[in-house]
Amino acid sequence: MKTAIVFGVNGQDGSHLADLLVEKQYKVLGVVRRSSTDNTDRIKHLLKNNDNFNIVEGDITDSSSIMSVVNTYEHVDEIYNLAAQSHVGTSFKQPGLTWDVTGKGCMNILQAIVDLGLHGTRFYQASSSEMFGDSYDTDLSGEKYQNENTRFLPQSPYAIAKCAAHQAVRLYREAYNLHASAGILFNHEGPRRGDNFVTKKITNWAVDFKLWMEKHNLNIDDLNPCEGFIYGRVLGESIPKLRLGNLDAFRDWGYAGDYVEAMWLMLQQDYPDDYVICTGKTYTVRQFLDLAFKAIGVSDWSDYVVVDKNFYRPAEVDYLRGDSSKAKQNLGWTPKHDLNDLVSLMVYSRLNEKLQNHAGFVKNI
Ligand code: NAP
Ligand code: GDD
Repeated sequence: MKTAIVFGVNGQDGSHLADLLVEKQYKVLGVVRRSSTDNTDRIKHLLKNNDNFNIVEGDITDSSSIMSVVNTYEHVDEIYNLAAQSHVGTSFKQPGLTWDVTGKGCMNILQAIVDLGLHGTRFYQASSSEMFGDSYDTDLSGEKYQNENTRFLPQSPYAIAKCAAHQAVRLYREAYNLHASAGILFNHEGPRRGDNFVTKKITNWAVDFKLWMEKHNLNIDDLNPCEGFIYGRVLGESIPKLRLGNLDAFRDWGYAGDYVEAMWLMLQQDYPDDYVICTGKTYTVRQFLDLAFKAIGVSDWSDYVVVDKNFYRPAEVDYLRGDSSKAKQNLGWTPKHDLNDLVSLMVYSRLNEKLQNHAGFVKNI
């Protein structure tokens, strides 16, 4: 039976990857930071039902903690580093912490692999399209894109830390002959996405708005949007508007469940390498809003959304659209879901969650 260690297992991607590995009959050890409250919501279903899935406490900023985690199994086939302070906006407010976790944390794991002499262990690093920042290439039709050959021009402390980690993977691969690969993943989302990323913030709000209207038996014509609130027909019926930052950024959004398959495929190759993983299509936040509101039956969201400068970042990445031809050719990987699927999935699972929670069921999406 193959063994794998997943750092960041209770995050969005970590939980999808753990599902995939368990399905492939791996014995999986997930690493979770100590928390004063329960932080295992996304992996509860695995903890309940699977003997081949276990968790251990650990922190990637602490080398001794990594050493003891990595030593748990006699032989580790694969180590995935998905742990990070992963919010770009937060990285401007906590640059030091972001550096320690998102940058140095990766180096700590690589060094542990070398120090413990784990030459048969394969390593995956979660690199990011944020590393491209303001940089792009242009294809023959004049369209902008980024691939493995596009230079990095990071625009946030998060992206700088990811670039450092990405370079560490290349160096350790060359210097120590490690089977270490990096997936340069473009934005990927789904029902398990953290609440403060833009897609989740929008789909959650849209569903809550729909349910609020239903609860009060309101139609669009009954609504009175003014200042930061939307009012209903009677006093006391109100809901705060959705507050967002820059609506004009372009992102290449895919489904997280598809992207963890690419991570696994990278570690099944004879040789380690770096791969861009994306859909190849790009949309603005504004277009995402159109789709999410359409999914709840609202054609014009402009009265319900406030553009709030507090959600702007000191520097922005304006345009991301990937080219994953290399992954298609070498890994046989292509995304299975498009943006319409993604929006429906996120909207309907939020609806489900709200209705099921209401009826006292346990959620497991
Ligand atoms: P996420 O949901 O924020 O998960 C991050 C995970 O890292 C969480 O489990 C978090 O645990 C853990 N973590 C944070 N600090 C840690 C530390 N010091 N020691 C150990 N674990 C720590 O992020 P995600 O969306 O799943 O992304 C997974 C990885 O891919 C991240 O490295 C992210 O930067 C990268 N990435 C993501 C995307 C994307 O669009 N999702 C795109 C490109 C790259 P807590 O729950 O305790 O915070
Ligand atoms: N989070 C957030 N909240 N973003 C907003 C908001 C808001 O209220 N309003 C507008 N945005 C814009 C951001 O400025 C950005 O241009 C875009 O929406 C996407 O923001 P996020 O969803 O926070 O994602 P991100 O692109 O910054 O970073 C994600 O993708 C990277 C890969 O490109 C994260 O998952 C990173 O960890 C990942 O590396």
